[in-house]
Amino acid sequence: MSDQAGAELRISIDRLLDRLAALAEIGAIEGTAGAARLAFSEADRQGRDLVTGWMVDLGLDVAIDAIGNVIGVWRQGAEPAGRHLAPVLCGSHIDTVATGGRYDGNLGVLAGLEIVETLARAGVTTARPLAVGFFSNEEGARFAPDMLGSLVYAGGLALEEALAITGIDGAIVGDELDRIGYRGPAPCPGPAPHAFVELHIEQGPVLEEAGIGIGVVEGVQGISWTEVTIGGQSNHAGTTPMRLRHDAGYAAARLAVFVRELASELGPPMVGTVGSLRLHPDLVNVVAASALVTVDLRHTDDGVLAVAEKRLGAFLDELAEAEGVRITTRPLARFAPVTFSPAVVDLVESTARELGCTTLRLPSGAGHDAQMLARLCSTAMIFTPSRGGISHNPAEHTDSAELEAGANVLLQVLLRLAG
Ligand code: GLV
Ligand code: MN
Ligand code: MN
Repeated sequence: MSDQAGAELRISIDRLLDRLAALAEIGAIEGTAGAARLAFSEADRQGRDLVTGWMVDLGLDVAIDAIGNVIGVWRQGAEPAGRHLAPVLCGSHIDTVATGGRYDGNLGVLAGLEIVETLARAGVTTARPLAVGFFSNEEGARFAPDMLGSLVYAGGLALEEALAITGIDGAIVGDELDRIGYRGPAPCPGPAPHAFVELHIEQGPVLEEAGIGIGVVEGVQGISWTEVTIGGQSNHAGTTPMRLRHDAGYAAARLAVFVRELASELGPPMVGTVGSLRLHPDLVNVVAASALVTVDLRHTDDGVLAVAEKRLGAFLDELAEAEGVRITTRPLARFAPVTFSPAVVDLVESTARELGCTTLRLPSGAGHDAQMLARLCSTAMIFTPSRGGISHNPAEHTDSAELEAGANVLLQVLLRLAG
């Protein structure tokens, strides 16, 4: 097959949409297009089984590693000369938040499989093997930190530490991996690929607002997650004078307001979120005894992110003093901003333009496995638009023509990287 024929190859959007739909049926959220497959849950197991089965059907050499990452290498038949070269890897994740859409993560993995199918049907081979992977617990919604599988793969966290992490429901990563049968024999940290490219929906409003088809992702902003525990004094809501209260609920509410105001004050691109706030005993007529609150802070500049973290710490000291509550914090995740490989970013941009797509360079607001793989190899990402900028919501949507364009850009970028 000539280079020219490879350059003219296009994926089948129908096959890609069929696989996206089939995967979204697992853990489907009734009445929506979305799905709930929290990491290492029963639904995650079923999703893994489905995707791994597709990998095997496509003739990929599938390896499951010690943290449950699954990588399928397409060796393209018997002993081609490039068999021992490091593969060009694409992929993402297939776990979701509890209110997940059908594209977040899944797109990058299933587009990879579609690309292998397209190449195999056309008889196109590459000098380097291609590989498609999905990494464990990218979301971090059940087990913090996020991007856990790719973090361990890249050597950023010891395997033993990762396996011992306790989730929000008290489950432990290693036990759950055993339960679902995905603690595999392949070593983790894993081998460095030649390059990694992740196709993903933008999950934000930038591309849609600008009327652009393909986002050329230059890097990922820094992420800081903190769990804050507030200990107050439980008491009767009717009899306790306001001046005598040590109210964990009130302190938690003040913390949520502070995070919002801090983000406004520091200004874009600073974002701050209190996404989980759990009170105990959580009753109408009881002053809350305790509160468990999460704080998610993100910024593209690590210095500004550090300032935000410092301000948060100072605020918590003042709050503890003012309300007479005990406050402790536990870091859940801390990742510095990442800059992708300029050469692969340029390649994504030029390839998209050659395919007739409009492009815009932008940073990623969401965390991604690519930010971990960037520690190991030349890495970049391709974004497709998200309708209304909505994600982590079953209503997440990207038009099929935009998905198709994104997958075709990925196809051509992979062909060029794999030679
Ligand atoms: C992962 O999806 C994150 O950005 O929180
Ligand atoms: Mn994702
Ligand atoms: Mn996500």
